[in-house]
Amino acid sequence: MEAKIRDLKARIIFNSRGEKTIEADIIVGKFVGRASAPAGASTGGGEAVAFPTSGPEGAIQAFKQYSQKIVGFNACDIKGLTKLLHKIDPSPFFNNIGGSAAFAITVAAVNAASKSLDLPMFKIINDNREFAHPFPLGNVLGGGKHAGEGSPDIQEILSLPVGAKKIFDAIYANILVHKEVRKLIEKKDPTFAGGKGDEGAWAPHLNDLEALDVVSTAVNNVSDKVGFKVRMGIDLASGSIFDPKTGIYNYSRRGMKLTREEQINFVLSIIDKFSPTYAEDPLFEDDYEGFAILTKQVKHTFIVGDDLFVTNSKRLLEGAKISAGNGVILKVNQIGTLGDAIDFANTAKVNKYVIAASHRSGEGVDPHLAHIALGVSAEIMKSGVVGGERIAKLNELIRIDEAYGPFKMMDVNW
Ligand code: PGA
Ligand code: ZN
Repeated sequence: MEAKIRDLKARIIFNSRGEKTIEADIIVGKFVGRASAPAGASTGGGEAVAFPTSGPEGAIQAFKQYSQKIVGFNACDIKGLTKLLHKIDPSPFFNNIGGSAAFAITVAAVNAASKSLDLPMFKIINDNREFAHPFPLGNVLGGGKHAGEGSPDIQEILSLPVGAKKIFDAIYANILVHKEVRKLIEKKDPTFAGGKGDEGAWAPHLNDLEALDVVSTAVNNVSDKVGFKVRMGIDLASGSIFDPKTGIYNYSRRGMKLTREEQINFVLSIIDKFSPTYAEDPLFEDDYEGFAILTKQVKHTFIVGDDLFVTNSKRLLEGAKISAGNGVILKVNQIGTLGDAIDFANTAKVNKYVIAASHRSGEGVDPHLAHIALGVSAEIMKSGVVGGERIAKLNELIRIDEAYGPFKMMDVNW
């Protein structure tokens, strides 16, 4: 496949949190491919930097210097473009050009190729497989770095419609859970004014156990209503509450301080009580061994590394040696380029880790995540439940199903 890049541009726009980000246009023939970079709030130490030290403006200045080197390149050649960007910026974390530019260029290239070849993006990413929909995983109640004081310390409590047979029903089940959660919060706290965190999850004045209890009840209620199983997930984003100086997990909003042993036991007690199907970052990002301990001890919960692996194949191979976790989060901007993220997905598949292709808390309205999830055969797409920038990715799966499906849901032994 050939889609020659004729020109490219980059600009500063804003994400859903109102922060500056980089958007790239890649021009192929008369078609404009476009993508803007998302941004995290609870980022892992091993992530590509979002911008050079000179900030978004510096990223645009750098882009002006190197962009001509990309002209003439084949927009379908994701691997080649990734290699070229590493040649342009050989620093370990895209310190010179910024990961946001690397994200925007590689994803916009696929978007441009898609338009010029009249093929969906997921088929440009990989046209060799039978496609199946990822299960949507949506944040319905949360706190941590995504919401203010008073909300739970646990960053995200999520809904996962494991029994759904169709993508439309799966997405709708999460929406019903989101609505049900609000009702249940109002029962516990009649003064709740409907506040939400960065990803559209409710941010109530509840402690962690009350919050878990609310979502657990909500997923059960919705399971009964829709006639298939909807389960719970959690993202503890433990790096955000871990103090590396003392080795203590500090649940500051509840005045609870836990040692590593106590943190492991706390997570096990949550798993025991609420049976979440999915548990992300239960320990801070360098505790591979702790992840391995948890993975061994639990049977029906995927232990998923986000800040642990940061979409980096080397870190994943390190973890896979000792079975640290059995699931990965894939966030293209953590590693910078789409090509490196695809390599990471292949490493995950070979090592039998489930993949959750994920949004960030700061997002744009591009729907591209849906294509990335399908293209890498992700079992899960984590992209919130409501809010324009979240629903954009979910609605794209519905459109894809109509145009190229119907696709089955991924085959996962939950
Ligand atoms: P982030 O959070 O996008 O703010 O990093 C999401 C997550 O931790 O999964
Ligand atoms: Zn996370």
